[in-house]
Amino acid sequence: MYQDIKLDEIDINLNPPTEEPGRQYYFMAKCRERTRVFERERGRLPKACVVNMGCQMNARDSEKLLGILREAGYEASEEEQADFVIYNTCTVRDNANQKVYGRLGVLNGHKKRNPGMRIALCGCMTQEPSALKKIRQSYPFVDLIFGTHNIYKFAELLDAMYESRGTVVDIWEEADRIVEDLPLERKYAFKSGINIMFGCNNFCSYCIVPNVRGRERSREPGDILREMEGLVSEGVTEIMLLGQNVNSYGKTLEEPMSFAQLLREAEGIEGLRRIRFMTSHPKDLSEELIEVMKGSSKICRHLHLPLQSGSTRILEAMNRRYTKEQYVELALRIRREIPDIAITTDIIVGFPGETEADVEETLDVIRRVKFDNAFTFVYSKRTGTPAAKMEQVPKEQVKVWFDRVLRLVQETARERALLCRGQVSEALVEEVNENDPSMVTGRLSNNLLVHFPGDEELIGKLVSVSLDECHGFYYIGHRA
Ligand code: SAH
Ligand code: SF4
Ligand code: F3S
Repeated sequence: MYQDIKLDEIDINLNPPTEEPGRQYYFMAKCRERTRVFERERGRLPKACVVNMGCQMNARDSEKLLGILREAGYEASEEEQADFVIYNTCTVRDNANQKVYGRLGVLNGHKKRNPGMRIALCGCMTQEPSALKKIRQSYPFVDLIFGTHNIYKFAELLDAMYESRGTVVDIWEEADRIVEDLPLERKYAFKSGINIMFGCNNFCSYCIVPNVRGRERSREPGDILREMEGLVSEGVTEIMLLGQNVNSYGKTLEEPMSFAQLLREAEGIEGLRRIRFMTSHPKDLSEELIEVMKGSSKICRHLHLPLQSGSTRILEAMNRRYTKEQYVELALRIRREIPDIAITTDIIVGFPGETEADVEETLDVIRRVKFDNAFTFVYSKRTGTPAAKMEQVPKEQVKVWFDRVLRLVQETARERALLCRGQVSEALVEEVNENDPSMVTGRLSNNLLVHFPGDEELIGKLVSVSLDECHGFYYIGHRA
């Protein structure tokens, strides 16, 4: 494991090794030497800020970036004070890209006041040729740009950036391998995400993710379980298994293994109290998974099952490979088998060719399944996806539909949340309440939040809470 490698024992006067992750530790040692010089000259450590702009997978990548920066001798700071800022970008919808452009403008102002400052971009947006071109043309003050497939090389790229006068750009079209055992800096002491697979093979017709994250690759179960055990030994009690489509985990391994089998193995890890996972594609959700969830005392009572649309016609155009009826049947079966489960979803409104009748179908599914929560998105046209070439729906029309869908999902979510009133449930305490320091915030197995009287001491602990007052998406309670 990486903890065993002593950076100060690495001779940086020798040539860098060729094997990984050893090569990256060499560059971390080299970067650390540079931060020592900085410290001697400036009387303080250099400060770094990693800004995460994407999904849980991006958040996990940000922890890897922070881990490497920590090894290299940086101190974490806010963006305004940082000597090195890196944006870990998302490009799933166009507004994510616009946010990056806006913030880069502001960052340029900071850089003018602090000329030694360096700016880097990585993540999904840099994998998109049109975005990359725009960044290179309009934001020449960015010092380092790399993508999703070579993030394991961050230490080496950081060193190259300081050695170079111009912008260092390194974008790969495909991943060449999965590099294990690099450092990590976890955001929370008591819970963690962990990648079980990378990329996606589904090519939903609206989605840019397969283009920017590459083909589906599963990590070896042994590596995953070893990492989980390591986390538990460090005090982690809740682990979220991450993948674009966890239900197809293991299919590409030399010795294929199902996601349900992986969960069974994970269940056996002593000291691990809660297991979550994201995301489940309905077309690949197996009977075996339902069985494993049903019989498990650790897998949380929450399933995120993206619907996208309730219209079979639109689902077909989206290349989702299930029908409205198949989705409803699956969701209701899960509700029957595991009655206390929360089902949440993603819905896109305004997909090309969508009509009022299609939106009615979506509303019908919401009424029948009664989602516990739903992320509702306005369709965003992504260059390079098949849907970008289809006939787009006028924006004003989409807005009207969007509001209707949103109102209904809020109604069903409230209705579902109310069902827990008066129950006593176990909450994992995550933080002291921002608005009221006499309260803490905990998360229930079904993903609902509960605020109740308590202090810092409780953070990371599982406590029994009585759910007293329902406020739609959260509860106010007291320790039972
Ligand atoms: N792999 C996951 C989703 C990853 S993206 C899955 O298939 O469930 C998260 C969500 O963003 C998607 O579920 C979808 O609802 C939304 N999304 C993806 N592309 C989009 C686009 N072009 N416009 C609007 N929403 C989009
Ligand atoms: Fe995108 Fe579909 Fe893959 Fe999810 S499953 S990442 S929506 S292509
Ligand atoms: Fe965004 Fe990339 Fe995640 S595009 S949603 S950060 S996989």
